[in-house]
Order: sequence, then C-alpha cells, then structure tokens
Amino acid sequence: MKIFLDTANLKEIQELVSWGVVDGVTTNPTLLSREEGDPHELLVQICETVQGPVSAEVVATDTEGMIREGRELASLHPHIVVKIPMTVEGLQATRVLSGEGIRVNMTLIFTPLQALLAAKAGARFLSPFLGRLDDIATPALDMLSDLVTLMENYEFETEILVASVRHPIHVLEAARMGADIVTVPPKVLRQLVKHPLTDIGLEKFLEDWKKVQERLGQPA
Ligand code: G3P
Repeated sequence: MKIFLDTANLKEIQELVSWGVVDGVTTNPTLLSREEGDPHELLVQICETVQGPVSAEVVATDTEGMIREGRELASLHPHIVVKIPMTVEGLQATRVLSGEGIRVNMTLIFTPLQALLAAKAGARFLSPFLGRLDDIATPALDMLSDLVTLMENYEFETEILVASVRHPIHVLEAARMGADIVTVPPKVLRQLVKHPLTDIGLEKFLEDWKKVQERLGQPA
C-alpha cells in the first residue's frame, strides 16, 4: 500500500518523508489556505521534497476553467497530479486532460458509482472520502468495499486513493480491502507508529542491557 501525506505543510512533509515510508502528497484548497506564501511555489517545493505524486486541486468549476487550470498546475512540476472534483464538468475536464497525458485525481467521491465514472473518464487516481461520510452517520467502509469490488470487476487501471482518513482504523480497513493508496494527515501517520507495548518492551530491553554493562564494568 502506498502512503501519501494529506497536508500542504512543508515542515511536516520534510520531517515525515525522512521516515522513508511516504510515497506522495495530496493537497486541496483548504490545506493550501493554511500555509503562507505563493501556493504554486509551495507545491513545487513539496514536489521536490517528496519526489512522488503531489495532488493540486483546480478551483474553477466550469469545464474550460478546469482544463485551463489543470494544464497550468501540471506545468509546475512533473510530479503534479491535477485534482478535479466529481462533477459533470469535472468528468469532461478529466477526459480532456487525461487524453493529453496529464494525470488526474478525481476527488470528493462519496459513492462507488461516482468512482466508476471517474475511472471511465480516465482518472489516474480516484479519492473516496471516508471521514466526511462517517461524520453524517453513513457507513464509509461499506461504500469503500463496494467501490473496490467495482474497480476489480472491470479491471480499471485507476488507483484507489482513500482520503478523508481520520484514524488508524480507516487505514487498516483500506489496507484490508486492498486500496492502492491512503492519504493521511501527519497526526494519523504518527499514530500508526505508536504502541504502548513497544515503548514498554524497549524500556525493559535497555534496562536489562544495563545489567550486562555493569557486569562487564562498562559505563552505562
Ligand atoms: O484532501 C482530501 C481529504 O483527505 C480531506 O479530508 O479530513 O478534510 O475530510 P478531510
């Protein structure tokens, strides 16, 4: 499973990329709005840092505007993937941009059939949102399970990029279902590493090793 970071914060990305487990980054207008400076310059810095796919979202809502912005975003850096919302205009723009060899990540997907349309339109990635469905008491994992089944039934090449991830269980279930990618906030990635028994076990190992050092007359 590939792990992407769902943030536009360069310092967080620099730190977590150093772990050696991060394969890409996703941004959106909200995440970029939280950062200082020129968003396009920041996107290039993120591309140079992660050296993997970096999703950058159009803000136009009309087909021609999405196509224009998508071409502009794609020209920023070879790692840029153009993020386009799942609308009629988004489908039209995705068909055109994917036909030009520009990778598209169709986003704001909440049903398996929206995902099916995204794949048919030529999207390279599709982003089903889990947390926002859970927020309205709609079983997100049931949706994801159906979505994965549809993608497998028709052998679409499009990669499932699970988004709106709020906690490790979303990551676990996405992995169980065979999703290609999860994009996680830095907080969730940090949660994936931690377990109290790991900390307790390491402390015991180090404590017991001190006895060896004492026995050998070595400084602790
Ligand atoms: O970036 C797309 C998605 O991951 C947003 O997540 O938490 O705002 O629903 P969230």
